[in-house]
Amino acid sequence: MLWRSGFVLLLAHLVMATPLARRWSDFTEKHSWVQIPKGWELYSEAPSDYTFDLRIGLKQNGMEELIENLMEISDPGHARYGQHLTQEETEQLVRPRPESTEAVKVWLEAHGLTDDDVVHRTGGGDWVTVRVSVHQAERMLGTKYSVYHHPRSGEKVVRTLAYSLPRELHSHIDVVAPTTYFGTMRSMRATSFLQPEIKAIDNSVDNSTLDVDATVPSSCATTITPACLRALYNTVNYVPSQTSRNGLGVAGYLDEFANRADLQTFFRRFRPDAAGSSFTTVRVNGGGDDQSDPGVEANLDIQYTTGISFPTPNTYWSTGGSPPFDPDSETPTNTNEPYLDWINSVLAQSSIPPVITTSYGDDEQTVPQDYAVSVCNLFAQLGSRGVTAFFSSGDFGVGGGDCRTNDGTNTVLFQPAFPASCPFVTTVGGTTRVNPEIAVSFSGGGFSRYFSTPSYQSAAVSRFVAGLGATFNGLYNKTGRAYPDVSAQGNGFQVVIGGRVGSVGGTSASSPTVAGVFALLNDFRLSQGKSTLGFINPLIYSTGSSGFNDITAGSNPGCNTRGFTAGTGWDPVTGLGTPDFVKLQQLV
Ligand SMILES: *[C@@H]1O[C@H](CO)[C@@H](O)[C@H](O)[C@H]1NC(C)=O
Ligand SMILES: *[C@@H]1O[C@H](CO)[C@@H](O)[C@H](O)[C@H]1NC(C)=O
Repeated sequence: MLWRSGFVLLLAHLVMATPLARRWSDFTEKHSWVQIPKGWELYSEAPSDYTFDLRIGLKQNGMEELIENLMEISDPGHARYGQHLTQEETEQLVRPRPESTEAVKVWLEAHGLTDDDVVHRTGGGDWVTVRVSVHQAERMLGTKYSVYHHPRSGEKVVRTLAYSLPRELHSHIDVVAPTTYFGTMRSMRATSFLQPEIKAIDNSVDNSTLDVDATVPSSCATTITPACLRALYNTVNYVPSQTSRNGLGVAGYLDEFANRADLQTFFRRFRPDAAGSSFTTVRVNGGGDDQSDPGVEANLDIQYTTGISFPTPNTYWSTGGSPPFDPDSETPTNTNEPYLDWINSVLAQSSIPPVITTSYGDDEQTVPQDYAVSVCNLFAQLGSRGVTAFFSSGDFGVGGGDCRTNDGTNTVLFQPAFPASCPFVTTVGGTTRVNPEIAVSFSGGGFSRYFSTPSYQSAAVSRFVAGLGATFNGLYNKTGRAYPDVSAQGNGFQVVIGGRVGSVGGTSASSPTVAGVFALLNDFRLSQGKSTLGFINPLIYSTGSSGFNDITAGSNPGCNTRGFTAGTGWDPVTGLGTPDFVKLQQLV
C-alpha cells in the first residue's frame, strides 16, 4: 500500500510539472463562505501530501422525473399510489448522462487519477469517490485547503472556505465533498438531553404491572413510558402480523452504541411482553458496537422504536465517525461525510426497512446549499424506494443561540434546521402533558431558506401564514418548506442507561415514537395486501390529516422572541399534530 501511494504522489508531481490544459483551469466558483463557520477556527495549512477521499456528486439525468414520480406514487388520489420503485429502477433514474460521466473521467485523468484511484462508485454511477492528495484536490478545485479546529468537540478537519470547478463541469457536477461543509458526525447535534430535573420512575421498585390498557395513566403528564405512548397514540390493541416483511431502522452517529442488556432491563420494566426480543446492529463505515458504552441517544431511540413497534424487527445503524486528523499518518483518511456515506450505503441495499428515524441535524445555514440539495435528493431516492424517513425537528424552537446569519451581515433571523427542512423527509416536533397534549417549548419549527414550499403543504402553510399577519415579518421565509409535519411527546422519556432509569427529553424522543406508530401502520397495510406507505407527506396533508390529534396550545420560543404559537390546523410548532393509530388505520 505504501509504495502505491508513493507512486500516486510521484504521478501527481509529474502532472504538476505540466500546466493544466486551459479546459481544466478555467475556473468558476461553486460555493464559498464569507467567514469561517461558527464554532470552527483556522488551525494550520493542510499538508500537501495528506491524502483523503473526495466525493463527486454527478448531475443525475432523471432527478426531475424521479421527483415527479415520487409525488405521484405518494399521492393517495393517484392511480399509481404505493407503486414504489426497485433499486434498479431508482438507479436508472439517477444515472448521469454519458457526457457527464465522460467529462468527469477526462478531468480526473488530467489530474493523474484513473479507475485505480476510484475507491467507490454508487450503483447508478452518480457518486464517485476518489482518493486524492491535498495537492491534487487543490489543483482540481482551484482552491486551498486548510486544517480547521472545532474546540468544543476537539475535532480537526481539512476543509476550504471556497471551491471552484472548471467552467464546463458545472453542468455535469452538483457538489464535491469534503469542501465547504464543515459538519462532521462529531459536530452534528443529537437532539436529546438528560433531564435530571424530572425525577425518573423509582429505580428500585420493579413495577412489572404497569397498566397497559387504552386509558392514559396520569403519570404520563410528567414521565413517559411505552405504556403512555401506546395509550396516547392508540396502538395498544394492535397485534402486528407481518414481521417477516416489515422493519424499522434507526440511524446512529457520534459513536453512540445501542445497548442490548439495557434493552432487556427496559423491556422487563416497561414492555414485559417484549422481553427476550432484540434488534440487529449494522455497522456502516467502521462504526463500532461497544456494549460497555451505552449511548443516551442510541438507547432512547432503540428502546422507544422497539417499545412501540414490537415485534417488528428493528435495525440500528452504527455509522463511523471521521477519524481524527493526523498529518503524519501514512494511511489515507476516509473523511466520512455525515449523511452521504450512510444514505448511499442504505440505498445500495436491495431491501431497506420501510421506516427510518434519525435524530441528528445542523443549522441549515451551516450546510452549503449545493450539499443540502444533493443530500435532500438522496432522501427523495429513499422515498421512491417506499421508505418513510423521519427526522427530529430540533430542540431550539425557532432558533438557538444568537440566530445571526453567517453571510457577513450578522442579521438576526429564525434559524431552520437541516435535514428537517428537506421537503422529502417527514419532520417530527415535540409535545408534552396529557389531556390535552400541548407543544413542548423546545420543539424546533420554521421555514427553509433553501427549499420552497412543496405543493403538498402549500394550503396548510398559507393558512397559517395568513393568520400570522405581519408578526415576525422578515424573520422567517414565507415561501420556504415549513416544518415540523407532525409531532409526538418529547419530555421525560424513561430510558434505561447502564442499568438505571433516567429521564431524557428532546424531539429525539418524538421521532422514534412516530416511527414506531408508522411501522405498525405499515404492518397493517401489508396485512391488507397493500404496499408500505413510503413518503407520507402528500398523504398526511390531504386525506390523512384527520388521523392526527390537533395540538392547539403552546409555543416554541427562540431568537429572543416568543416563537410561533400552536393553533387549530397545521402550525410550525407541532405540525398536523400527534398520530392516532386507529384513525390512521381507517385512512391508509
Ligand atoms: C410502582 O409501585 C409502587 C408501589 O406500588 C408505587 O408507589 C409507584 O407509584 C409505582 N410506580 C409507577 C411508575 O407506577
Ligand atoms: C425563501 O425560500 C426560497 C426558496 O424556497 C428562496 O429562493 C429564497 O431565497 C428564500 N428567501 C429568503 C429570504 O431566505
